[in-house]
Order: sequence, then C-alpha cells, then structure tokens
Amino acid sequence: MSGFPSVRMRRLRRTPALRSMMFKSRIHPSDFVYPIFVDENARKPVPINSMPECFRMPLNELGEEARKTLEKGVKAVLLFGVPSKKDDLGSAAFAEDGIIQKAVRLLKEEFGDEIVVITDVCLCEYTNHGHCGIIKNGEVDNDLTLEVLGKIAVSHAQAGTDIVAPSSMMDGQVKHIRNALDNAGFKDVAIMGYSAKYASSFYGPFREAAESKPKFGDRKSYQMSYGSQKEALREIELDIMEGADIVMVKPALAYLDIINLAKSRFNVPIAAYNVSGEYAMVKAAAKLGWIDEKAAVLEILTGVKRAGADIIITYFAREVAQWLNQN
Ligand code: PBG
Repeated sequence: MSGFPSVRMRRLRRTPALRSMMFKSRIHPSDFVYPIFVDENARKPVPINSMPECFRMPLNELGEEARKTLEKGVKAVLLFGVPSKKDDLGSAAFAEDGIIQKAVRLLKEEFGDEIVVITDVCLCEYTNHGHCGIIKNGEVDNDLTLEVLGKIAVSHAQAGTDIVAPSSMMDGQVKHIRNALDNAGFKDVAIMGYSAKYASSFYGPFREAAESKPKFGDRKSYQMSYGSQKEALREIELDIMEGADIVMVKPALAYLDIINLAKSRFNVPIAAYNVSGEYAMVKAAAKLGWIDEKAAVLEILTGVKRAGADIIITYFAREVAQWLNQN
C-alpha cells in the first residue's frame, strides 16, 4: 500500500447498501425493445428450435403477446414478418394486406399510443433468394433496392407504425426512406437505422426463425466486416446526416467498443441489438446447467447499457423485466 495515503477500494464494497449506492448502470424495463416474429402461415405459436421460449406468432395471438409485453413495462416491440409467399422482389413486404401491415394495424387499434411499434424494413424474409435486396446480374443492386425499401417504409407508415428500422445495409437507405416518408406525408414517423450492422455468425437462429437464410453466397458485400471500427463510426455518422433519429449497433456483445465510441461521439440515442445467437448461447449454457441464466442475463444487459446503449433490443426483454419488477 505504499505511495498512496491508504487508498482502500474495498471500503465502498463493504455492505450491500454501500454496493447498491455504487451501482451506477441500471437497466429498466423501459430500456428494452422486444422482437416479435409474426407468421402469416401459423395458426398457433410455432416454437423456434434454436431460440427457446420464442415463437412465431399467428396474427390472432399477437394482441395477447403484446399485452404480456406491455404489462411488464416493456413499451416497445420490433416486428418481423414471415410471409406466406416469397418472390424475386419481396413484394409481400410492401403489400397493403401484408402480414406486417396487418400486424401494425392490429396493435395500433388495440393499444394506440400505449405501445411503440417498430417495424423492420428489409427484404430477406420476403425474397425467394433470401438476400436483403433486389438481385441484378447475380448481385444485390443497391439503388434498385432503395426504391423497394422506400415503398416498404411508406406501407408500414400507412398502417400506423411509430418507427421504421431499415436493416438491409444499403447505402443511402436512411435518406431515401426519410424522403419517401416525408413525401407521403409521414413526417412524424421516426427512423431507427441499423447503422453499424456487422456480418455476424450470431444471426443464425434468427434466420431459422424468419426463414431468411440466403440461398446463395452471404451478406458480406453489404453488412460490415467485424475487423473494423472506423467504418462503423462512418456508417453511423452517415445515417445521422441522412436523418436517422436513433442509430443502432448490432450485434451487441462482441461490439461493446463500437457502442461505447458511438455513445461518446454522437448525440443521438444509441440502440444495441442483443441478437438471436447471443440469446441462444445463454439459453443453451443455462439449459446444460453451466451458467446461472438470470445472473448472466442481468450482467450482460447491464454491460451493454454501461457501454453506452440507451435502448436495448433483446429476446430476454420480458424475462428481465419480470425480474426487475420483482426487486
Ligand atoms: C434482417 C435482419 C436480421 C436480423 C435482424 N434483421 C438478419 C440478417 O441480417 O441476416 C438479425 C437479428 C438477430 O439475429 O436476432 N436483415
């Protein structure tokens, strides 16, 4: 203990009350967004094999699912559609009677402004090839895709969504969607950009859930490579300039540095997506008795918040909210 006038870090760790006073990053149910898969073919909830306790929901049970979420203090849901028909253009994504358009109308009729409805704007669940854009000459064509993304966003806005979340990683998607929304009279619909979205192995379970695995190739020509940090900051900066109201870093766990840098550099709310593979890892280890699920989940999500996330999208949202409410 030489050099310092008896510094003892353990003084403030002595009692539970002292430790609680020093516990500075706290997660709250209102921090969370709960993702829900809405399946046009389902008649009852379909369990997702690699995501225990998650289901693809039929439209007629969506209201109940949302009610259970709201009751726990989680105010926002992120909707993904699993359509009954796929084609080259992903036309079911912008159909007026598409599954997401119906889902949004249903939730808004039932819950109005009690709920924040966020809709994923992408093509991979809707195209027969499973890519996030329109294919031309064997490649995902950026600008053709923008046109379709604009249509999807406007159709979601017409159904009443609060926030659209473009996730296809096309250049200029936020700007294009902002213009499309404004021109259609939806100036108040917000945009949450999937700004720093990495090409990640942690999306595997989601692709099973949403039936959106690419039929050929991979997503590396549009999603970011995980070896880079500056590129993420540039993506985020561009999305902010293009009009994003919220920016996102995805996945969360392996990208805490990006969340932290984004938080320190930008003044827009930062969302982090604790993705399907991050969920599955915890569930699998807990099932084997190798980790304590509750302790691990609280530690992970608090860590994501401490790193700088203002909003956390997580399949654990309801479970965690329940625990937090019991405290
Ligand atoms: C659609 C999309 C994906 C996820 C969210 N939106 C999958 C992908 O990019 O392949 C992944 C979410 C998760 O893994 O939980 N583009």
